[in-house]
Amino acid sequence: MKVGVIGTGHVGLVTCVALAHLGHRVAGTDSDGEKIALLRRGSSPFYEPGLDDLLSQGLASGGLDFRPSIAETVQGATVVFICVGTPPRADGEANLLAIERSARELARHATGPTVVVEKSTVPVGTGVRLRAILRQERPDLEFALVSNPEFLREGRAIQDTLEPDRILVGAETTEAFDAMRRLYEPLTRRAIPLIETDLMTAELAKHACNAYLALKISFANAMARICERAGADVVRVAEIMGADPRIGRAFLDAGLGYGGSCFPKDLAAFERLVERLGGDLPLLGEIARINEEAVQATAEKVKEALWNLEDKRVVLLGLAFKPDTDDVRFAPALALARLLLAQGAHVLGYDPKAAANAKAELAELEVCLDPYEAATGADCIVVCTEWDEFRSLDLGRLKDTMAHPLVVDGRNVFDPEAMRRHGFTYYPTGRPPVTPHRTAT
Ligand code: UDX
Repeated sequence: MKVGVIGTGHVGLVTCVALAHLGHRVAGTDSDGEKIALLRRGSSPFYEPGLDDLLSQGLASGGLDFRPSIAETVQGATVVFICVGTPPRADGEANLLAIERSARELARHATGPTVVVEKSTVPVGTGVRLRAILRQERPDLEFALVSNPEFLREGRAIQDTLEPDRILVGAETTEAFDAMRRLYEPLTRRAIPLIETDLMTAELAKHACNAYLALKISFANAMARICERAGADVVRVAEIMGADPRIGRAFLDAGLGYGGSCFPKDLAAFERLVERLGGDLPLLGEIARINEEAVQATAEKVKEALWNLEDKRVVLLGLAFKPDTDDVRFAPALALARLLLAQGAHVLGYDPKAAANAKAELAELEVCLDPYEAATGADCIVVCTEWDEFRSLDLGRLKDTMAHPLVVDGRNVFDPEAMRRHGFTYYPTGRPPVTPHRTAT
């Protein structure tokens, strides 16, 4: 099928390369001309495992192309995805201006019957608005509207798109469902379920999924605070909870909390939406509050251990909001860095991929190219992102290079017993600390 994709951010670009990989002819566009030039040369503007390969394959096969304008992208396309950003306004509400502008431009230039697909996460009711805009802009255009939310995680975006747990399609006409079935046939052929529902339900379900996942993380973090007071172990609590299939183990990892471009923004937007609908769901605000508390609690641990933060060297291991990405949007590591800097600490950071993005966001942060170099003379290390490479650090070497062997583990990456053996003072999250006077059991 001929597909157009408006917006080549994380969601849009992954949609482009994945659909081209499935055999469709895809054209992508973006308002950022430099990005289009970069993509045409086969370079991805961000790091995502497997993306570069699919991008070069798509360009080489001729199935994938990037064009400078929406007009050239929607020409001849039977399906057009809208994947533009929905950044938060000051009060948390999603700003849908880019969606409206894309829809108007799309309508003006569509050359035939078009299935218009909302892929960006949008408040319920956006589809109805879009339909009105498309009609207003081009009363003669034959179109059908679809909500097809993505469920991709950064760092696993290609895998999540090509091997999803489910595909969600909300639509109102047989033609729209037929087109989406044809588009995803290479996946449904492999028994991947395609859930068909109405537009509103699909839009709402996406917010419900993200809110529920964030709820699980915040629940684990609330438990971590209680475990710390009680002397219990939140990792074991999560294992025990997760052994019940009604609960499930996933997303119960306590730590510095969630960040990224989706959960913080989507939760705030969902809260505003519920208010606008005249509803009341204070649970959403509480999830966000517990998430902020996770960073504050970690900052307090550092302060408690170091007493005065002025003149202290604190090293953050991991700056990305999670492993396998260079994305630092709403990264808990940067929120923690700001709290520590405000109290006078000298904050250094190491990250395998996100150092440059972190520095661009927070100039006061000193970024290092190597974890041992960062740890040299450090008074405290704080693990902020659970990159695999941190699990295999040489703990003996790390300890020898530090001024004081103190580790605050905001992601429970290290084994408390190994930390004790190496002589660290070790504060994990929601687990008993290891100190020279007190050992974990
Ligand atoms: C999320 C959703 O998972 C995805 O379905 C949706 O489409 C977009 O938003 P993403 O933001 O890429 O994806 O990351 P995810 O892997 O979900 O992690 C989000 C944050 O939660 C990260 O900061 C991660 O470190 C944190 N997290 C995750 C925890 O703190 N504990 C956990 O148990 C799981």
